[in-house]
Amino acid sequence: MSQSLATASYIGATILFILCLGGLSNQETARRGNLYGMIGMTIAVLATVFGPNVSASAYAWIITAMVIGANVGLYAARTVQMTQMPELVALMHSMVGLAAMFVGFANYIDPVAASHLTGTEKSIHEIEIYVGILIGAVTFSGSVVAFGKLSGKISGNPLLLPGRHWINLAGLLVVIFFGRMFLHADSVGEGMLSLLVMTVIALAFGVHMVMAIGGADMPVVVSMLNSYSGWAAAATGFMLSNDLLIVTGALVGSSGAILSYIMCAAMNRHFISVIAGGFGTTGGTPATAGDGQPAGEVQPILAQETAELLLDAKNVIIIPGYGMAVAQAQHTVYEITRLLRDKGVNVRFGIHPVAGRMPGHMNVLLAEAKVPYDIVLEMDELNEDFPKTDVAMVIGANDIVNPGAQDDPNSPIAGMPVLEAWKAKTSIVMKRSMASGYAGVDNPLFYKENNRMLFGDAKKMLDEVLMAMKA
Ligand code: TAP
Repeated sequence: MSQSLATASYIGATILFILCLGGLSNQETARRGNLYGMIGMTIAVLATVFGPNVSASAYAWIITAMVIGANVGLYAARTVQMTQMPELVALMHSMVGLAAMFVGFANYIDPVAASHLTGTEKSIHEIEIYVGILIGAVTFSGSVVAFGKLSGKISGNPLLLPGRHWINLAGLLVVIFFGRMFLHADSVGEGMLSLLVMTVIALAFGVHMVMAIGGADMPVVVSMLNSYSGWAAAATGFMLSNDLLIVTGALVGSSGAILSYIMCAAMNRHFISVIAGGFGTTGGTPATAGDGQPAGEVQPILAQETAELLLDAKNVIIIPGYGMAVAQAQHTVYEITRLLRDKGVNVRFGIHPVAGRMPGHMNVLLAEAKVPYDIVLEMDELNEDFPKTDVAMVIGANDIVNPGAQDDPNSPIAGMPVLEAWKAKTSIVMKRSMASGYAGVDNPLFYKENNRMLFGDAKKMLDEVLMAMKA
């Protein structure tokens, strides 16, 4: 393939990636957006493999790598549960970081890569290598720890070393010092030593940064690492002089940063303190998933009574959460919704930005169950409507409807905007026990006078509610 055809293909792929991001911003266009992304990526891979920079002798290696990678990807896509998606995403981010590191080292020791460069150009190339490996290493180790935390292999408790900000600052100074040494190195061996010292510090920084983060703030970390992985890819693009990789990396990096910002707003965290790491732990006790102790009396309700309350209602708001995903109850939720709507009840869904375990988790499930998009609303769009609502039905959600976020300044989720389910005439919380949610805090909603608890697996209980409604 000629250089000009490869360049034209890259431009086409770039446009498709931008259309993909645009499509993903709306549920109705998300499927098309995904398709654009897939076509763009296919063009990008083909244009690179058959482009002018790859010799035919490398095809065997490339095809072997692609077959292995594609099989691992297929296996992961088939076996990973929807609720494990954030862990998978964190693992994938770690791969981007690792790739950036490998490319950086390979680029440095490659006798051909920079042989034609001298003076400023050579220095710029070396800075690209140094920064690329730095970002790659932080992304790699941070993502591995994020994977451990999200999958429960590492405790969700924040690890707060004494003087941790000073440790980070000292690390930064050492990295700058060795960066200078790297640029003035007389031999590859000398430069390699600086690179290795920096890599070890960057790896330690990645671990330290994510270890310091409390469980409740992990959603922001995942999107932040997403952004880092984009910048790592962009850095790789600079090292390889690959324009498409630079553009794609920048798209991922900036969209990840925007998503992090949105998540921060949804969780009432400050963007700058997120970037600095070690956030989400001030003003509250560190959260441990599952340690919330029940306090007070709750009023249980049966499926039959729930069905009656729903049928008597004029306005119903359904608030889905992580438990609906675990129970795979979305299809029954839709059956109930349809039945109520047929009877003239105004049913709407309230979606919290961090409901479930990944951005858009609930939207994906509801779309899968064919719930019409126009009754699926964002938290801000219907929070004011709760006082006019007869029944707020909370299905496997907990933290996102916790009034403590507003009333208790010591709560680990203090200040996080929540869906105000307790303001409805009656709220019904559907879950299996009194266990706490992801943030590990007790939920005062359960003990409110107008709240009822429908205990049991969400799918099983909703099946019973549906049967009672039909009867
Ligand atoms: P959670 O607060 O985690 O609560 C989920 C509740 O579902 C649990 O209390 C659990 O109670 C219940 N549950 C679990 N399995 C169930 C089943 N089979 N049937 C019925 N109920 C079941 O979830 P949420 O309200 O959606 O809030 C999300 C939390 O996750 C936030 O703290 C958020 O910060 C965090 N987080 C979000 C993300 C993103 S990006 N969305 C990523 C990581 C973390 P029982 O055990 O008693 O049933």
